[in-house]
This record gives sequence, C-alpha cells and structure tokens, in this order.
Amino acid sequence: MDIFDAQEKIEQLSKEIEYHNYCYYILDNPKISDYDFDMLMQQLLDLELQFPQLVSPNSPSQRVGGGITKNFATVTHRVPMLSLGNTYSMSEVEDFAMRVYNGLNTREIEYVCELKYDGVAINLSYTNGKLQQASTRGDGVQGDDVTVNVRTIRSVPLLLQGDFPKNLEVRGEIIMPYKSFYALNQERENQLLTPFANPRNAASGSLKLQNSAEVAKRNLDFYVYFVVNGEKIQPTHYQSITKLKEWGFKVSPYMQVCKNIAQIGDFIELWDQKRKTLPFDIDGVVIKVNSYSQQALLGFTAKNPRWAIAYKFKAERVLTKLLSVSYQVGRTGVVTPVANLAPVSLAGTIVKRATLHNADFIAQMDIHNGDSVFVEKGGEIIPKIVGIDISQRPDNANIIEFPDTCPDCGAKLNRNEGEAGFYCPDFAHCPPQIKGCLEHFVSRKAMNIEGLGEGKTDLLYEKGLLKNITDFYRLKYENLLGIHRTYLDENTQKERTVYFREKTVKNLLTAIENSKSVPFERVLYALGIRYIGENSAKKLAIHFRSLDALAVAKKEELLTVEDVGEKLAQTLIEYFHDDDNLQIINDLKSFGLQFELTQSTHLAPVSDVLEGKTFLVSGTFATADRRKELENMIEQYGGKRLSSVSSNLNFLIAGDNMGPSKLAKAQSLNIPIISEETFLKMLNK
Ligand code: IVH
Repeated sequence: MDIFDAQEKIEQLSKEIEYHNYCYYILDNPKISDYDFDMLMQQLLDLELQFPQLVSPNSPSQRVGGGITKNFATVTHRVPMLSLGNTYSMSEVEDFAMRVYNGLNTREIEYVCELKYDGVAINLSYTNGKLQQASTRGDGVQGDDVTVNVRTIRSVPLLLQGDFPKNLEVRGEIIMPYKSFYALNQERENQLLTPFANPRNAASGSLKLQNSAEVAKRNLDFYVYFVVNGEKIQPTHYQSITKLKEWGFKVSPYMQVCKNIAQIGDFIELWDQKRKTLPFDIDGVVIKVNSYSQQALLGFTAKNPRWAIAYKFKAERVLTKLLSVSYQVGRTGVVTPVANLAPVSLAGTIVKRATLHNADFIAQMDIHNGDSVFVEKGGEIIPKIVGIDISQRPDNANIIEFPDTCPDCGAKLNRNEGEAGFYCPDFAHCPPQIKGCLEHFVSRKAMNIEGLGEGKTDLLYEKGLLKNITDFYRLKYENLLGIHRTYLDENTQKERTVYFREKTVKNLLTAIENSKSVPFERVLYALGIRYIGENSAKKLAIHFRSLDALAVAKKEELLTVEDVGEKLAQTLIEYFHDDDNLQIINDLKSFGLQFELTQSTHLAPVSDVLEGKTFLVSGTFATADRRKELENMIEQYGGKRLSSVSSNLNFLIAGDNMGPSKLAKAQSLNIPIISEETFLKMLNK
C-alpha cells in the first residue's frame, strides 16, 4: 500500500470508528459488537504503525492518551466565558422572568430549562470538523489549553459528522460520573492519597494532569450546552443544540422548552427531586431565553447574560439523632470528635457519621448527647452538622465533654496555643499514631514501599510484626507467609480478605530492599516528624546535607531555612532530644538507609538573598563538616565563593584559629570579618 492509499484508508477508518464511538457513547446504541470495534481499531493502529507520519492528533487511536503537558499554555478566549447569575428561590426566578418581559416588551417568550452540571466549563473549537483546541474557563478571559487531555474524553467528538460549519466553537461541562468518582477515590485511599472532596474537584484535577494517559483512565464525560454565535446556525438555542447532537456531541435528553413560569417551576421541582437518580452531580437548573434575536435584545451586564439565570438547589438537609460521640486519633495525634448518628438517607447515601471538627466547634454549637441535629452534605464527602433542633432536646441531655486523655492510649491530651485541636503527645506508644506513622513511612512520596495497601500495614502491626518503622527492615519471609485477615469493607459492605501469599511476600521484601536507596530528603519526610511536609524535608536536606548535621542544628539556624517556622524548628529540636527517636535513626542507619544527600542530588537554589556578594570561609568550626555546609549555603542562597582574600571579596566568614596572614590581609583591605551567626542572619533577610 502506498502512502496515498494509506492516508485514504486511515481517514475512512477514523470516521467509521468515530461514528461507532458516537453510537456507543452518545446515543447509547451500539451498532457493532465490541469485537468488531476492536478489529477496526486494530486495523487503524497497524496502518498508523506502518505510516507514523500519517498519525493525526485527532485520530481515534489517540483517545488512550500518552501526550505529556508540562505547562498548560494560556489561551485568550475569542468570546469571554461569562458565568450566570444565581437564584435560590422561585420568587427570584419570577423576578428574572419579569426583567426579561420588560426588556422585550412581548409575551411571546420561550425559555429552555436545562440541568446545571457541576463540573468544569470548557470551550471547544473546531475547524473543518476537527477538534482544534480545548480550553478551561480560567478567569473568563483567559484559560488553560488542555486539548491533549480533553482528546481522551470519549464523548468529546474529535471529528464531526454531517453538515457542520467550517468554524465552530461550543461550550459545555466536563463532569466525572459518580461511578468513576467513587472508584478513583477508592484507588487513592489504597495508595494513601487524599481523596477528592467531590466529583467537580476530581474532574478539575484530572484535566490538569500532566500525563494524558492518566486522564484517559479517569472516565470523564462531556455535555454541551452553548454555541458561540449560535445565531449563525439556527434561530433558537434549542434548535442549535439539537444540531450539535447530529454533528456528534452529547446533549442532555432532559433539556426542555418551557412556555411560561409555571412550566419552569415544574421543571425545577421535578429535578430537585429526581437529581438523586442521575449518575452525576447537578447543582441546579439553568433557564435560558430560547430565541437568539431576543437574547441579543437583552444583552449582558458586566458579568452575566441578561437572558439566562441559574437556579441553585438547596443543599439537602435531614434531621437525625446524635447517638454518641467517638474520638479518632490521627497520625499526628490530633483528636477529632466524630458524631455517631441514627442512620439516615441523605443525597443518595446512608449517613451514619458526621465530623464535629474540634472542641471549639462542639462548644459553639452547644451540642448535647441525644440532640436532634440537622445534617447537610456540602462540597465535602463527610457530611456536616449544621444545626440543632433544641425543641427536641431530651430533659436529661448532658453536654458533650471533650476528653482530657487520649481515647486510645490514655496519655493526657495537649493543646497548642492558638490551635483548635487537642492532640495526644505520646506518639511513640499510641496505637493509631504508630499505625499512621507506619502507613506514612511506606507511602508513595515517602519510602514508596509498594504492596502494603488495603490495610496490610495495620495487619502487620496487629500481628506484632511492626512496632515501629525500623521493623519493616526486620520482616522475614517465613514470618510473613500466610498471614491473613477478613474484614468488612465499610464502603461496599462486602467482606474482603487481606492475604500474604508467596508472591505478595516476595514482592514486598524486594520493595523494602529497594527502599534503602530512597534519597535522604524522602527518608527525612518518611520519619513522620510532626509539621514536616515534603517541601520542608527537601529544603532541610539541601541545607544540612546530612541527618547528623540536622540533628545538632541550633534553632536560629533551623529558622534560616525556607519553609521552616517556629513550630517546626521547635519540633525538630525536641525530636532529636528524644532517645527513642535517636535509637530509631541509628537502627535505620544500620539497615543501610540514606541519611546523607548524595552527590547526585542537585543543590537546588534556596533563595537569592546573597546575589552579587562574594564570601570566603576560613578557620575551624564546631564540626568538621560545618565549613563545607557553610560553603554550600553561600551558593544555595545565590552568593559566590572565592578561594583567597582579594579586593573582590565582600565578606570573610571567620571560624576559630584563622591563619594570621589571611586575617591581616583582610583587615588591610577593609573587608568585613563576620562570624557564623552573622552570616546566618544574612540568610534570614
Ligand atoms: S450556560 C453565558 N448551561 O454554570 C452562559 N452553564 O455560572 C454560559 N453550567 O460556567 C453558561 N450547566 O460551567 C450553562 N446547562 C448549562 C450549565 C452551565 C452548568 C455551568 C457553567 C458555567 C456556570 C455558570
């Protein structure tokens, strides 16, 4: 086959595949079997492999993604992406209709009611039926070019079909259906990553992923709801959107033309009830004037069109009984009060628990045991208590008292000045803190020891094989093999079994062995010292270059490191004064973990406060390494090191026992001779 024949065949296959994609994903009415579809795709892939120069970015083969975007380019929207005015009651909707009536001076007004999707607004532009660009709303004027990621969404047509215009620009919402959302969060929890609070955040986070192959796995969906310059297509919004469906876009089947305010009211009421049955989140209804010529007469305010409005549903709220309060201890020892509620159905799920945040929240709400409480689902997964029905308070109801000892280990709780939360200070002996610490140690951004998800770390702790983080390096094949436990998965209410089979154990031991080469900055993060995040661990590692240097650092010096504040500095000092911690570090050292920055770790610049200044370090300092550290710091903070005293030198950092000739020369050239402390103060500017 020559290249011309190949091109023709590729185009024909692409159109055919996109058509079947349309039947499957948009019409929900497949015309061929999955097998036949796969065969068509295979033919296309084979041809593209043979003629790689013919692979187009809009080829259906590109749906699986693979393109990497490091930085999303900024796009200026040809027509600004406005938002809608919000209303929360029928009377406000009536006010809107009255404004429209006054503006048009006719009773001949048709409205279109649509669902208000709770996702991410997107602008798609097409030339000759091919997707050119996809951009986010951003600030309405400029957004991000997310084309590479949007191409992976199956309901976004890459090639239009039928009598589409040469240039077309449409807008719609990218959403994550509940099913994909729950699956994604489950996976994130298994990997000890923070779950997304709601499908909107998940959709938005997915669009910003750098690897489009990851986006392809997120199962995003797209609904179109607006055509830029739609009047060029059809006289009304409804007709234009119907055209879009013909051309390959996914259009909501629930869009409805309404002739009067009563019909609008019915639509709102219907969907306020029925929204629970939808497979995705909506947060209201959008009402638009149907005729484009009427829309043009009404025009825009500075921010919103005058021809459309959003009606936002009230968050669903239920009344239930507070049965008791439990106290959960997190990895860092913070004690969170959790309300145990009489089970109640709310926004599609059964709610049994709600967070009470902290002692202040309980006091402010004046919640009593046995109270009837109002529960709402906000943007978060965990429902919240938003009020109390005092009239239903039982006579004997007593006030909730925050415990003063740890519910797990009995230690006396502490509260730091200015913080709302109480915490258990005995992190070395408090079971949930130890478990949390073990989980943190193996997590991806720390030691990245794979194969310990799904409660396996917990299980090993409960079997007595893990008492602290050093025990990972004492695990043996014969002790691990066969360990298992069956438990009830809270989310799915299904029984699950965790089992250490031969392969699991072998993989785990290899992963543990490999973790010995994890670089120092991640080991430091993995230790789980309170307040140390990924960034501060990195900055500390670069500054001190070894754990030994960090362990003896004075507070003043710790504070010179960017991202290190008073609390962290104090915590570090206390951490390195604790014999148990020093023992843990010594053990980890003996197992071969990295406690020094390797040569390969780049000396990243920390700041440029010393820019344009030259330094020379001379004499002896507290430790042999100290001089080297000071020299590194000069460069990291943007300064330059000189090797001898000359008129180019700005500062001489003097230790003890400096050579007399150097000292004399510096004095004769009037070069300031400064101490280590003065130098550290310069970094703090
Ligand atoms: S129309 C010029 N229709 O709500 C008006 N917007 O505040 C263009 N949205 O940013 C928007 N569903 O992200 C329209 N059926 C719908 C919608 C919808 C959700 C979102 C959209 C927009 C925001 C408006």
